[in-house]
Amino acid sequence: MLDRKVVKLLNEQITKEFYSAYLYLDFANFYAEKGLEGFSNWYEIQAQEERDHAMLFYRYMQNNNEKITLEAIDKPGVTLTELIDPLKEGLKHEEYVTELINKIYAAAQEVNDFRTKQFLDWFVKEQGEEETRASNLITKMELFGHDPKGLYMLDNELSARVYAAPTLVL
Ligand code: FEO
Repeated sequence: MLDRKVVKLLNEQITKEFYSAYLYLDFANFYAEKGLEGFSNWYEIQAQEERDHAMLFYRYMQNNNEKITLEAIDKPGVTLTELIDPLKEGLKHEEYVTELINKIYAAAQEVNDFRTKQFLDWFVKEQGEEETRASNLITKMELFGHDPKGLYMLDNELSARVYAAPTLVL
Protein backbone atom coordinates (compact mmCIF):
# COMPACT_ATOMS: atom_id res chain seq x y z
CA MET A 1 0.00 0.00 0.00
CA LEU A 2 1.25 3.44 -0.93
CA ASP A 3 1.12 6.52 1.27
CA ARG A 4 -2.29 8.30 1.11
CA LYS A 5 -0.86 11.69 0.13
CA VAL A 6 1.21 10.10 -2.64
CA VAL A 7 -1.83 8.18 -3.89
CA LYS A 8 -3.95 11.35 -3.95
CA LEU A 9 -1.35 13.19 -6.03
CA LEU A 10 -0.87 10.23 -8.39
CA ASN A 11 -4.62 10.01 -8.90
CA GLU A 12 -4.86 13.75 -9.59
CA GLN A 13 -2.06 13.44 -12.13
CA ILE A 14 -4.17 11.12 -14.30
CA THR A 15 -6.65 13.97 -14.82
CA LYS A 16 -3.89 16.57 -15.25
CA GLU A 17 -2.28 14.53 -18.03
CA PHE A 18 -5.62 14.09 -19.79
CA TYR A 19 -6.10 17.84 -19.46
CA SER A 20 -2.70 18.33 -21.13
CA ALA A 21 -3.88 16.14 -24.00
CA TYR A 22 -7.05 18.20 -24.26
CA LEU A 23 -5.10 21.46 -24.23
CA TYR A 24 -2.74 20.29 -26.97
CA LEU A 25 -5.65 19.05 -29.06
CA ASP A 26 -7.03 22.58 -28.80
CA PHE A 27 -3.68 23.89 -30.08
CA ALA A 28 -3.77 21.33 -32.93
CA ASN A 29 -7.25 22.50 -33.86
CA PHE A 30 -6.18 26.17 -33.74
CA TYR A 31 -3.40 25.49 -36.24
CA ALA A 32 -5.60 23.26 -38.44
CA GLU A 33 -8.06 26.15 -38.74
CA LYS A 34 -5.19 28.42 -39.84
CA GLY A 35 -4.13 25.90 -42.50
CA LEU A 36 -0.88 25.02 -40.74
CA GLU A 37 -1.06 21.24 -40.95
CA GLY A 38 2.51 20.70 -39.71
CA PHE A 39 1.96 22.61 -36.46
CA SER A 40 -1.35 20.83 -36.11
CA ASN A 41 0.33 17.46 -36.58
CA TRP A 42 2.97 18.33 -33.98
CA TYR A 43 0.33 19.08 -31.35
CA GLU A 44 -1.85 16.10 -32.24
CA ILE A 45 1.15 13.89 -31.50
CA GLN A 46 1.84 15.88 -28.34
CA ALA A 47 -1.76 15.20 -27.29
CA GLN A 48 -1.25 11.48 -27.94
CA GLU A 49 1.85 11.51 -25.73
CA GLU A 50 -0.13 13.15 -22.93
CA ARG A 51 -2.79 10.44 -23.14
CA ASP A 52 0.05 7.93 -22.80
CA HIS A 53 1.29 9.76 -19.71
CA ALA A 54 -2.19 9.63 -18.19
CA MET A 55 -2.36 5.89 -18.84
CA LEU A 56 1.05 5.34 -17.23
CA PHE A 57 -0.20 6.92 -13.99
CA TYR A 58 -3.43 4.92 -14.29
CA ARG A 59 -1.49 1.68 -14.79
CA TYR A 60 0.91 2.42 -11.94
CA MET A 61 -2.03 2.93 -9.57
CA GLN A 62 -3.63 -0.30 -10.78
CA ASN A 63 -0.39 -2.24 -10.46
CA ASN A 64 -0.21 -1.12 -6.84
CA ASN A 65 -3.84 -2.07 -6.15
CA GLU A 66 -4.80 1.51 -5.46
CA LYS A 67 -8.33 2.77 -6.07
CA ILE A 68 -8.57 5.10 -9.07
CA THR A 69 -11.09 7.93 -9.13
CA LEU A 70 -11.48 9.58 -12.51
CA GLU A 71 -12.26 13.28 -12.10
CA ALA A 72 -13.70 15.85 -14.54
CA ILE A 73 -11.33 17.23 -17.18
CA ASP A 74 -11.47 21.04 -17.46
CA LYS A 75 -12.04 22.66 -20.81
CA PRO A 76 -8.88 24.14 -22.37
CA GLY A 77 -8.54 27.47 -20.60
CA VAL A 78 -6.36 29.58 -22.88
CA THR A 79 -7.12 32.26 -25.45
CA LEU A 80 -5.25 31.79 -28.70
CA THR A 81 -4.88 34.69 -31.12
CA GLU A 82 -1.36 34.95 -32.55
CA LEU A 83 0.38 32.00 -34.20
CA ILE A 84 3.00 31.96 -31.47
CA ASP A 85 0.42 31.83 -28.63
CA PRO A 86 0.10 28.01 -28.42
CA LEU A 87 3.89 27.69 -28.32
CA LYS A 88 4.19 30.12 -25.42
CA GLU A 89 1.23 28.59 -23.59
CA GLY A 90 2.73 25.15 -24.21
CA LEU A 91 5.99 26.04 -22.50
CA LYS A 92 4.13 27.62 -19.57
CA HIS A 93 2.02 24.49 -19.27
CA GLU A 94 5.02 22.14 -19.33
CA GLU A 95 6.71 24.19 -16.58
CA TYR A 96 3.54 23.78 -14.54
CA VAL A 97 3.51 20.00 -15.16
CA THR A 98 7.15 19.81 -14.06
CA GLU A 99 6.11 21.43 -10.77
CA LEU A 100 3.35 18.82 -10.37
CA ILE A 101 5.76 15.94 -10.98
CA ASN A 102 8.26 17.44 -8.54
CA LYS A 103 5.51 17.75 -5.94
CA ILE A 104 4.65 14.04 -6.21
CA TYR A 105 8.35 13.19 -6.11
CA ALA A 106 8.83 15.25 -2.95
CA ALA A 107 5.84 13.54 -1.30
CA ALA A 108 7.24 10.11 -2.20
CA GLN A 109 10.66 11.11 -0.90
CA GLU A 110 9.21 12.24 2.41
CA VAL A 111 7.89 8.73 3.13
CA ASN A 112 10.82 6.81 1.57
CA ASP A 113 8.59 5.50 -1.22
CA PHE A 114 11.42 4.30 -3.46
CA ARG A 115 9.08 2.51 -5.85
CA THR A 116 7.16 5.67 -6.74
CA LYS A 117 10.38 7.66 -6.99
CA GLN A 118 11.72 5.14 -9.47
CA PHE A 119 8.49 5.32 -11.47
CA LEU A 120 8.65 9.12 -11.49
CA ASP A 121 12.30 9.23 -12.61
CA TRP A 122 11.12 8.68 -16.19
CA PHE A 123 8.76 11.66 -15.90
CA VAL A 124 11.46 13.90 -14.42
CA LYS A 125 13.59 13.25 -17.50
CA GLU A 126 10.62 13.55 -19.84
CA GLN A 127 9.69 16.95 -18.41
CA GLY A 128 13.20 18.23 -19.04
CA GLU A 129 12.90 17.13 -22.68
CA GLU A 130 9.41 18.59 -23.05
CA GLU A 131 10.49 21.99 -21.73
CA THR A 132 13.48 22.03 -24.09
CA ARG A 133 11.32 21.08 -27.09
CA ALA A 134 8.71 23.72 -26.22
CA SER A 135 11.30 26.43 -25.80
CA ASN A 136 13.12 25.46 -29.04
CA LEU A 137 9.84 25.82 -30.92
CA ILE A 138 9.41 29.36 -29.60
CA THR A 139 12.97 30.25 -30.67
CA LYS A 140 12.38 28.90 -34.18
CA MET A 141 9.06 30.68 -34.50
CA GLU A 142 10.60 33.97 -33.38
CA LEU A 143 13.43 33.55 -35.86
CA PHE A 144 11.53 32.34 -38.93
CA GLY A 145 7.79 32.65 -38.26
CA HIS A 146 7.34 36.25 -39.42
CA ASP A 147 8.36 35.49 -42.97
CA PRO A 148 5.80 33.46 -45.04
CA LYS A 149 8.55 31.33 -46.58
CA GLY A 150 10.10 30.66 -43.16
CA LEU A 151 6.71 29.78 -41.72
CA TYR A 152 6.03 27.42 -44.62
CA MET A 153 9.34 25.63 -44.05
CA LEU A 154 8.78 25.42 -40.32
CA ASP A 155 5.32 23.98 -40.90
CA ASN A 156 6.89 21.39 -43.23
CA GLU A 157 9.47 20.50 -40.59
CA LEU A 158 6.78 19.96 -37.96
CA SER A 159 4.72 17.80 -40.30
CA ALA A 160 7.54 15.23 -40.15
CA ARG A 161 6.98 14.46 -36.48
CA VAL A 162 5.71 10.91 -36.00
CA TYR A 163 4.20 9.33 -32.93
CA ALA A 164 6.43 7.10 -30.83
CA ALA A 165 5.09 5.11 -27.89
CA PRO A 166 6.62 5.97 -24.49
CA THR A 167 9.85 4.22 -23.58
CA LEU A 168 8.43 3.49 -20.13
CA VAL A 169 6.36 0.32 -20.07
CA LEU A 170 4.39 -0.77 -17.00
FE1 FEO B 1 2.76 14.86 -19.59
FE2 FEO B 1 3.83 17.18 -21.37
O1 FEO B 1 3.90 16.24 -19.78
